Amino acid sequence: MPLEIVRNDITKMTVDAIVNAANESLLGGGGVDGAIHYAAGPELLAECKTLDGCKTGKAKITGGYNLPAKYVIHTVGPVYEDGKHGEKSLLESCYRESLALAKKHNCETVAFPLISSGVYGYPKDQALKVAIDVISVFLLENDMMVYIVIFDKAAYKISEKLFSDITEYIDDNYVDEHTDYRRESMRMNTPMAPMQASVGLFESDLCECKAMMAEEDLDAKLKHIDESFSQMLLRKIDEKGMTDAECYKKDNIDRKLFSKIRSDVHYKPSKPTAIAFAISLELSLDETEDMLKKAGFALSHSNKFDIIIEYFISKGNYNIFEINEALFAFDQSLLGA
Ligand code: APR
Repeated sequence: MPLEIVRNDITKMTVDAIVNAANESLLGGGGVDGAIHYAAGPELLAECKTLDGCKTGKAKITGGYNLPAKYVIHTVGPVYEDGKHGEKSLLESCYRESLALAKKHNCETVAFPLISSGVYGYPKDQALKVAIDVISVFLLENDMMVYIVIFDKAAYKISEKLFSDITEYIDDNYVDEHTDYRRESMRMNTPMAPMQASVGLFESDLCECKAMMAEEDLDAKLKHIDESFSQMLLRKIDEKGMTDAECYKKDNIDRKLFSKIRSDVHYKPSKPTAIAFAISLELSLDETEDMLKKAGFALSHSNKFDIIIEYFISKGNYNIFEINEALFAFDQSLLGA
């Protein structure tokens, strides 16, 4: 995915350029500014002194010196007052100007901290939204790998209710392995082993299973049973009335990867990519599992990432930003932003 949200110390990122959340003097400070200067060494400050400062919303570039990154792009974010003093557009400008500089210097990989979300007080979830929105627009027209580096968990504010809802859903599903087999056999319409049947598959469950089978449009399933992942993906895009571009851009799936899948009927994507397509197409849980199966995967109840994805699909919530907030809150890797 060309945009990834990672948890790391930006000074450790091996990318072409890291972005520094500086102040207008460019003479260093605390926070990420202090960390970058400390890791880069005194030569960074020496070069910054030749730049004559930087205006808020603008960006300037220097070498990376002792950092693993080749360049440091210094940008100055707005000090957040109340959101009514042009803070958002200045913050957007920081990302746009930094990306333009990175492009001008042929950077292929860039890492951003959450600009203004520390000392400058920009609410972290809003700062993250601005970052994702501006970077995503840039990536529609430009080929670059961009990381948003989150240094502390506070960056994601997930509501207490959502957190406890998901925790409960995980507890119900994560520990309840036995009924997992029941659910699986209902879905696969295969008879359960007698032992499983005696482990609490009551009469009512059997009726439910038959009702589910009656409901399922079996011949529709059989019609597509030997369809490849790629064929199902393209069929679903058509059925949803989406264009290819709408599908892969919606969840920030790499354009080149999409054209690979489109041109190779037997292409097998990674599991996160297959899930990202399912979210983008807003597939039901059954359709998601069907699509994953065609790529050789299944949503597993012994995997918290999968259970959280299942939670959101079962709630009909396909908002990639909210899904990532939840994944992050449970220390899981994120879907392409
Ligand atoms: N790697 C990645 N992110 C980091 C790191 C790090 N090593 N250290 C801090 N951060 C995160 C913070 O958690 C915050 O989310 O960077 C984000 C930006 O916080 P600040 O560094 O405080 O930057 P900002 O809010 O833009 O304030 C800029 O602070 O350090 C001074 O000189 C700087 O005056 C300027 C002001």
